[in-house]
Amino acid sequence: MTTRSRLVLAAVATAVIVVPLAWLWWSSLLPDEYSVMTMGYMDYGDGQAEHGETGHMESDAISITELTVPADAKPDVSVDLTVRKETFTLASGRQVDGYTVNGQSPGPTIRATEGDLVEVNLINESVPDGVALHWHGVDVPNAMDGVAGVTQDAVAEGGTFSYRFYADQVGTYWYHSHQISHEQVKGGLLGPLVVSPAVRGEPKGNEVVDLPALVHIYDGVRTVNGFEGDVAVDAAAGQTARVRVINTDNGPMSVWVSGAEYRVVAVDGYDIHQPDTVSGEAVLVTAGGRADLEIVVPDSGARVELGGNTAILLGPGAEAVTKTAAPTDFVDFLDYGSPAPLGFDPGTATRDFEYVVDRRPGLLDGKPGLWWTVNGHMYPDVPMFAVAEGDIVRMTIENHSGEVHPMHLHGHHAVVLSRDGEPATGSPWWVDSLNVRDGETYDIAFVADNPGIWLDHCHNLPHATEGLLAHLMYIGYTTPYMLGGASGNQPE
Ligand code: C2O
Ligand code: CU
Repeated sequence: MTTRSRLVLAAVATAVIVVPLAWLWWSSLLPDEYSVMTMGYMDYGDGQAEHGETGHMESDAISITELTVPADAKPDVSVDLTVRKETFTLASGRQVDGYTVNGQSPGPTIRATEGDLVEVNLINESVPDGVALHWHGVDVPNAMDGVAGVTQDAVAEGGTFSYRFYADQVGTYWYHSHQISHEQVKGGLLGPLVVSPAVRGEPKGNEVVDLPALVHIYDGVRTVNGFEGDVAVDAAAGQTARVRVINTDNGPMSVWVSGAEYRVVAVDGYDIHQPDTVSGEAVLVTAGGRADLEIVVPDSGARVELGGNTAILLGPGAEAVTKTAAPTDFVDFLDYGSPAPLGFDPGTATRDFEYVVDRRPGLLDGKPGLWWTVNGHMYPDVPMFAVAEGDIVRMTIENHSGEVHPMHLHGHHAVVLSRDGEPATGSPWWVDSLNVRDGETYDIAFVADNPGIWLDHCHNLPHATEGLLAHLMYIGYTTPYMLGGASGNQPE
């Protein structure tokens, strides 16, 4: 072979390798601006998927911007939340470079009574990347869901936005930014939201200590309500304390009680029916999830252990209570409490979806890596689960990805039907955030009663930025908002 033909051959061989690679790289690049309405593919359930853009856009589709609370309804609770990017001091005294809500982080607790119309006026004073506020676990009208690029544009510096929703769900919730959430939530742009029942079951009056316990890791240090270490709370012996644990971090957290028994009275805001007394077991609170613990404060006090390095001390003698080691057994909500009516029959499901999480090597926006897949597809080619209003929806969530994923569906509460084929036999276990370990399969069900376009993603927020997300779309609805582009919308 002549030198010349050797060179030609080498050039051809190189091209054979480089050209497809270049094409793969190029085709993985995300467009500068794109809509959730055209990304991925439609999944109608029961294995009926439709690739290409058919079905995404209907010319007579209703814009989700119409899905609001009537403008003339008068709010019962009105709160102004001013957000800033700044260096601030936690309650513990530690300095943090992050984000504040009304000058503090965590932000103020928003309290409402069941049925109240809540109005929150967001004022972005100095968050350069913009902000959108999401009401985690509250099934608000879609236009109020606070997801930048899906339900609104990020509120730019100097801008404002009014969120209005009915607090129809009693329980423990939280709010956080859903614009560049992996960074803004980590930096503290969040706070608790508590909805109390209009009429309490038993009149406990001031016998009750009711305390949100928002757990957040700032700069690697775990805090509760901004405090570190052992945090004493006013409680008298014999009082009933309700500790509303909110896990705002990216991983699951063990919670247990030293020195007393307890009951888990609610999960993700929803009451557990006839909760059993627990001792020697921990509760696993998934990322984004909540668990309300009820403790009758003993004479000698008790400690609520939050992950093992932070605790709430209840009662005057609590300093003397020895911290027990982290239990290796966990309350299993599959058979905790006792059954109660669901209000719908999952056996009559009209849609059946699969949400299979895995990972594979590939290119995401030009970056090589081992990326998450949803039903075998990598972001942005992820499914759009299509439902019609009134559908009873079943979903099987399967995880083969090698890591745990806290799966969070916006706008709906789902009930757990089974785990790894073992049916739920306890209290209805309603979730908005579900800890799905590697190798696990969960069957869940919900009623499609809240039209719009909803995120359904992993609440380990860096995973969401890596594409572990999908959307639930009501057929016949559309959004005018775009990801990327001039709006700078970047929900994850
Ligand atoms: Cu707590 Cu999509 O979020
Ligand atoms: Cu994840």
